[in-house]
Amino acid sequence: MIIPINLGEKSYEIVLERGAIGKAGRLLGVSGDRKVLIVTDSGVPEEYVDAVARSFKKKNIFIFPQGEESKNFETYRQICETLMDLSYTRKDAVVAVGGGVTGDMAGFAAATYMRGIDFYNIPTTLLSQVDSSIGGKTAIDVGKIKNIIGAFHQPKKVIIDPDVLSTLTERHFINGLAEALKAGIIMDAKLFEIFEKGEAKERIDEVIERSLMVKKKVVEEDEKETGLRKVLNFGHTIGHGIEASVPFGELYHGECVALGMIPVCGDKIKSRVISAIEKTGLPISHPIDKESVRKALSHDKKSDSEGITAVICNEIGTFEFVNTSTDELMKLI
Ligand SMILES: NC(=O)c1ccc[n+]([C@@H]2O[C@H](COP(=O)([O-])OP(=O)(O)OC[C@H]3O[C@@H](n4cnc5c(N)ncnc54)[C@H](O)[C@@H]3O)[C@@H](O)[C@H]2O)c1
Repeated sequence: MIIPINLGEKSYEIVLERGAIGKAGRLLGVSGDRKVLIVTDSGVPEEYVDAVARSFKKKNIFIFPQGEESKNFETYRQICETLMDLSYTRKDAVVAVGGGVTGDMAGFAAATYMRGIDFYNIPTTLLSQVDSSIGGKTAIDVGKIKNIIGAFHQPKKVIIDPDVLSTLTERHFINGLAEALKAGIIMDAKLFEIFEKGEAKERIDEVIERSLMVKKKVVEEDEKETGLRKVLNFGHTIGHGIEASVPFGELYHGECVALGMIPVCGDKIKSRVISAIEKTGLPISHPIDKESVRKALSHDKKSDSEGITAVICNEIGTFEFVNTSTDELMKLI
């Protein structure tokens, strides 16, 4: 299946197809005279990287240590240095093969190397397939502040192959479901029902497709997050606060988003959302140090001098923007 993302001259296609990774080179349509730097991390099974590498004529592979800790200036510097050392030019390209960390890192390097070269994304975690690989957001963390340095840089094409999810750990698979559940809560009641029935795992192709359609709709209307796109931050403001307040790796991004969604659901739907989160296998509570969360919330880039724009949901499939403050959000936790 081809899902077009319509963004004028920055338009691109998502190929959603089982088995697609084996024909990545052909599907991406990168001509043989161009060099591609395949960026991946140490946890992505070699077979996927090899399959992608085999399908390109002129390629190099850059592997960095897996984990959020690598989404930093040092890895960014190393990718850029590799591109320089191997004499990559504006006509060459970067291809990410991995999860959201790889996509964000590789995308940011592609966005800034020589003021921007082509970027292709082959997401291999569920989180990156349903969310982070489309929309063009790329970034690195600085210390514990997530995604604080970044750029909008749309990929030229995205290949999503659900077969690669078979090697993901159970926890990473469930982690990815959080972003799909988020899409259902705010914009797709039918998608939410899949979670409510506890059928997300068995109906994963449908979950991926429906989540992508939500993201497509939002990104096409508001590419640079000046309005509607803020809806995708549902659960993320508090979620990022929680993520920054716990030791690295204790909670995954999706788990924090799940925890962050609960306080911003209205009373009418809260118990349904909690039940869906539980059925999915995501956490509904976690011990946190409230002061650290508060500190992280006030650093969050979604807050400005007039307060924080929070996304609230009172009815499944709908959302509201509410201007609030760190103090008000803290009261909800
Ligand atoms: N750019 C965006 O719009 C956006 C949106 C949401 C999240 N994000 C970012 O995404 C990141 C989280 O992404 P993630 O959850 O994919 O984490 P991740 O990239 O760290 O991947 C999780 C782990 O799975 C391993 N892995 C990847 N594919 C695999 C496979 N097929 N089989 C087995 N193991 C595999 C990786 O090596 C890694 O250890 C965060 O940094 C978050 O900020 C970005």
